[in-house]
Amino acid sequence: MKTQVVIIGAGPSGLLLGRLLALQGIDNIIVEAKSPNYVLSRIRAGVLEQGTQMLLREAQVAERMDREGHVHEGFALSFLGRMERIDLKALTGGKTVMVYGQTEVTKDLMDARAQSGMQTIYEAEDVMPHDFYGEHPHVSFTKHGKRHTIHCDYIAGCDGFHGIARKSVPEDKITLFERVYPFGWLGVLSRTPPVSDELIYANHERGFALCSMRSAMLSRYYVQCSLDDRTEDWSDDRFWDELRSRLPTDIANRLATGPSIEKSIAPLRSFVAEPMQFGRMFLVGDAAHIVPPTGAKGLNLAASDVYTLYNILHKRYRENRTDLIARYSEICLRRIWKAERFSWWMTSILHKFTDDPFNQRIQEAELDYFTSSEAGRINIAENYVGLPYELVE
Ligand code: APR
Ligand code: PHB
Repeated sequence: MKTQVVIIGAGPSGLLLGRLLALQGIDNIIVEAKSPNYVLSRIRAGVLEQGTQMLLREAQVAERMDREGHVHEGFALSFLGRMERIDLKALTGGKTVMVYGQTEVTKDLMDARAQSGMQTIYEAEDVMPHDFYGEHPHVSFTKHGKRHTIHCDYIAGCDGFHGIARKSVPEDKITLFERVYPFGWLGVLSRTPPVSDELIYANHERGFALCSMRSAMLSRYYVQCSLDDRTEDWSDDRFWDELRSRLPTDIANRLATGPSIEKSIAPLRSFVAEPMQFGRMFLVGDAAHIVPPTGAKGLNLAASDVYTLYNILHKRYRENRTDLIARYSEICLRRIWKAERFSWWMTSILHKFTDDPFNQRIQEAELDYFTSSEAGRINIAENYVGLPYELVE
């Protein structure tokens, strides 16, 4: 088989890149290890920056998002029994975020690709990129017991943190930066009305909590938990009691509880691979970087990587701008590290790291300062709505 770009991974990164390239007539094949249903089964946050929304509209997959998504003009930080609203719209000259589940984004992209007739190979086994430092890159995989090879011009490793693309790079050609946090997030989905119309990120001496939502009757809540915890350790009652204990009293008193329809524990890490390009292979999204979910940046960083690679490949094929190929990493990493910083900062001021009361007081002082200063509020708001994309030119 032959194509212009082989995309490894049919998550949000791979599907969005494939869609944008296809709309420009750039042929691509996606090779995915799992089944479509498995890809859609992953429950993930969906706080979309304006840049991500713009890209989904450019990909002509935003009709349902614009119809069913919820525009959020602000969110709250809770600490010392207080609620401090960050007015995103007022503080950023009108920018907002859209709450629309990542699973829905993925479904919209999958539906568009299926309708376009572009080739997606699901349940591919032993996928392997080859010769990406050479002139004839190709990707091999096994399907129904038969080995196949796709020859291409470029390979996009959109295969996530546990994928094969990054692991195929020689160790002396890549540098990994990582911080693993000493706690996890216990998440619960419940068919209950959200406690607030906007998200609430709570600092409390017992630990972090987050109140979010998927729809008017589908709430998503998190409490910081020990990495030693298992979901079996947390009955619904224990979860609701702990969540209430970490929220201001008036919020806790109006919390609507109900049976959990999904309960899971996720670890938190910051991770960046440098560079993100290896000859004719590019790493995109979670394959290249991970952020703790505290800043709601994961999907949005994947989208900005896709924006950069899509524009580079578009100009390479349409204007023979081969000079742009080598600029992918530097452009992406400038924005990635700023989002890593914001996600690390939100995580560091909202979570309980130690029993040392000094740390709690410092966190409270940081939150008090940032939310009582115009400059501090703007700082939080402009990072939360997403820093500007760097143009490819
Ligand atoms: N071969 C083929 N496909 C693979 C391989 C492999 N060896 N390894 C992983 N994959 C597939 C996975 O099954 C998954 O469908 O690659 C896809 C990677 O998707 P994601 O992990 O969702 O990563 P990405 O598309 O970059 O999306 C980033 O997902 O994890 C969240 O918070 C993150 O919101 C962010 C978004
Ligand atoms: C979620 O709704 O799951 C969610 C929202 C915002 C975050 C993290 C998770 O920062």
